[in-house]
Amino acid sequence: MIIDTHAHYDDKAFEEDREEVLASLAACGICRVVNSGSDLEACRRTIELMGQYPFMYGSLGIHPCDTTSLTEEDMDWLAGQSHLDRCVAIGEIGLDYYWDEPERQLQKKWFARQLRLAQEVGLPVVIHSREAAQDTVDLMRAEHAERSGGVIHCYSYGRELARAFLDMGFYFGIGGVVTFKNGRKLKETVEYLPMDRILLETDSPYLSPVPNRGKRNDSRNLLYVVAQIARIKGITEEEVERITTENALRLYPKIQP
Ligand code: NI
Repeated sequence: MIIDTHAHYDDKAFEEDREEVLASLAACGICRVVNSGSDLEACRRTIELMGQYPFMYGSLGIHPCDTTSLTEEDMDWLAGQSHLDRCVAIGEIGLDYYWDEPERQLQKKWFARQLRLAQEVGLPVVIHSREAAQDTVDLMRAEHAERSGGVIHCYSYGRELARAFLDMGFYFGIGGVVTFKNGRKLKETVEYLPMDRILLETDSPYLSPVPNRGKRNDSRNLLYVVAQIARIKGITEEEVERITTENALRLYPKIQP
């Protein structure tokens, strides 16, 4: 039993065969999926998916690159939707200095605002942080992100920074990158992380693991991620599945076991 804690099945990439893909997951042991909102439209579609599929949950929030025209009314709407039975988190929210737009001050403003929103509604956060390590940690500390807790999705930094997030009680979303030949830094980080802080995620349709790297990703590919984590940690694949599922249920108590 595997939980994909981060996917984007609302994405256009699944327009042709979304139903088929989602119907095929259970046979591969994928029992729950958390679809991640990234802009307002994606949040609306995530809510639709939550209504259509009993195994589908959602995190609702606005990605840093989509904050340009956000308003306080949008925050009110998010707060209202966050009380849905299957809305498990606020996210993905954060900072992205790789694309570096909109300007950093605006990204920071809405990251901080959504960290506070999560605390107001009593949900954990899903954090997207790319090439913005120090500002992410600083803002999380300033806003007391340890009060909501959450996960650093698609964790891409090294071990030193992992310590800072561990100390705030955060989890680490690990996906396809851990299978990449050039993913040495992440492999070292996974070796370092306590097993009880690791969550499985795909970020579908992106970041397919080897041997499907470059193709459209879906939750079935998590089997390759499980195998790789088992190798790195020197434990069985069954243990990886069991522990990461327990972790997801601990962080997201709204998910039915
Ligand atoms: Ni994502």
